[in-house]
Amino acid sequence: MSSVEKESFPRIRSFIRRQGRATVGQQKMIDEAWDEYCLDPDKDYDFDQVFGRSAPLIVEIGFGNGSSLAAMAEANPELNYLGIEVHKPGVGHLMLLLQQKGLSNVKIYHHDAIEVLEDKIADCSLAGVHLFFPDPWHKRRHHKRRIVRPSFVDLLVKKLKHNGYFHAATDWEHYAHDMLETLSVCQALQNSSADNSFCPRPDYRPLTKFEQRGLRLGHGVWDLIFSKV
Ligand SMILES: C[S@@+](CC[C@H](N)C(=O)[O-])C[C@H]1O[C@@H](n2cnc3c(N)ncnc32)[C@H](O)[C@@H]1O
Repeated sequence: MSSVEKESFPRIRSFIRRQGRATVGQQKMIDEAWDEYCLDPDKDYDFDQVFGRSAPLIVEIGFGNGSSLAAMAEANPELNYLGIEVHKPGVGHLMLLLQQKGLSNVKIYHHDAIEVLEDKIADCSLAGVHLFFPDPWHKRRHHKRRIVRPSFVDLLVKKLKHNGYFHAATDWEHYAHDMLETLSVCQALQNSSADNSFCPRPDYRPLTKFEQRGLRLGHGVWDLIFSKV
């Protein structure tokens, strides 16, 4: 879409910018370490150069406070991760964790993930895309804001490598079934579960902050893993 079209037909976004304030520690990272961890959404990058090595690239959309992304990056030092989040205090929190753990295999975009995927990620380049606990947009009139919709699945397929995977998790049953239906009709994706439905949480996915809150409230959790065929 050209910039003129983008202005004439504003996209329905999957987020509203939350107002939460950054803590002193998060703000210090935002002020002092931004360029070390964050990429400029207006620039084009060669990610092998950014990370200083060639390694499978995993994108996490909407990492929240980044605790599960930092844990995954620590557990998988052989992988490169791009985290994308619009909530700035969350970006500050992830930077703090990356500094504390001394991790250099995560870079961050503070931007709309859809725009980053569309404009900054090469086609057939991603080994995996993670979407953990996307905003569920409970009310029917808000369902159009859910990030997983047919246009998102098309974008995903375009950006994944052959055999690359998409892993989503949600604690909202209606959204889980909605995602299952939307992903299952895509001919280019194959469900990794034995019965073409949901998967048990794999060991590599830590519990996220949002998930832990849901579990305390008695919510269920549904994981979906599809690979590009
Ligand atoms: C419900 S929270 C879950 C956060 C985290 N994944 C977790 O499980 O704790 C969803 C997050 O996705 C982010 N988000 C929603 N749409 C986004 C988009 N298009 N681009 C980047 N971040 C987005 C929101 O800002 C929010 O932090």
